Amino acid sequence: MPEDTRREDKIPVVQMLVVGLIASAIGIAAGLAIEWFPTPASTQAGPIDHLFDVLIWTSVPIFVLVTTIVLFSVFKFRMRPGEENLDGPPIHGNTRLEVVWTAIPAIILVVLCSYAWVVLTDIEEAQANEMRINVTGQQFAWTFEYPQSGGKPIKSNQLYLAKDRPVRFYVKALDVIHDFWVPAFRMKVDAVPGIVTKYRVTPDRLGTYPVVCAELCGLGHAVMRNTAHVVAPAQFDKWIAEQKAPAQAAGGGAAKQADGKTLFTDGNGAATACSACHTLADAGASGQTGPDLDKVLKGKDAAFIRESITSPDKEIAPGFQGGIMPKNYGDTLSGEELDALVKYLGDVAGK
Ligand code: CUA
Repeated sequence: MPEDTRREDKIPVVQMLVVGLIASAIGIAAGLAIEWFPTPASTQAGPIDHLFDVLIWTSVPIFVLVTTIVLFSVFKFRMRPGEENLDGPPIHGNTRLEVVWTAIPAIILVVLCSYAWVVLTDIEEAQANEMRINVTGQQFAWTFEYPQSGGKPIKSNQLYLAKDRPVRFYVKALDVIHDFWVPAFRMKVDAVPGIVTKYRVTPDRLGTYPVVCAELCGLGHAVMRNTAHVVAPAQFDKWIAEQKAPAQAAGGGAAKQADGKTLFTDGNGAATACSACHTLADAGASGQTGPDLDKVLKGKDAAFIRESITSPDKEIAPGFQGGIMPKNYGDTLSGEELDALVKYLGDVAGK
């Protein structure tokens, strides 16, 4: 008689399905209970969040079911002592099963892709009364430009938006790839040198929201942040008017006196604030990205300070790396502002 080299195992289909269904229910509940995204602040956010929930509903059961079957099989059909020479039953495939496991995922994919396509087309639809904003990414700051009909565009390092006013962003990059993202709006797009990428958003909730860079773009990537201010339409118009005529807004037509400390802590609209990256006791700043100015500027003269602002990579402080500080402060600060900043830093840190 031939030696029996086969091992027969019954597959407990019902048990496995029950375990899989319970695990799926737990997985879906956990997936929906977690707050994946910040408070939504655009009309685009609702449909995107809903799409995300539907993807959880469909993908969690499949993931859980497959994982359950794999883990269960590894345990149930493991080799026991004395079975070293046994083999499993000879399986040559199962056409019906293969058709089923090909057809079901194909149907699920077609349905989900169609739904996602409908959502995308819907949220990207052109809006009447759309405002254009040009977004520029460069290591390591975002700047925003508001084209004005028949006038110079307004430049800002803060993103101001009017509630319920549709915006179309035209995004570009000057050096490497960045990614323009306001998580509260849910929309994001790569900023790629040489091309202009676009997307639409209609902010529908007042407040301030972080603008972040979502593409690793160098050592300063993590500090490539700004703030999006969604304000009432009247307030937005007022802000635009102020940007157009900063001198008048300050009162009496007299040019606003450039103040070094204010420039240091707030920037000037086009230039990012120094306090975002540097420590300076006098300004209450504690940034760690760049050198501690109380230390590195001690005993330095005005010429050194000026050069450190306009040509930051000429001399690098020990322990730091070049190429992180924006190289355009010489352009984004006016001559008067640069003088005020140099004087202020000389007064509080140079002595
Ligand atoms: Cu720019 Cu990351």
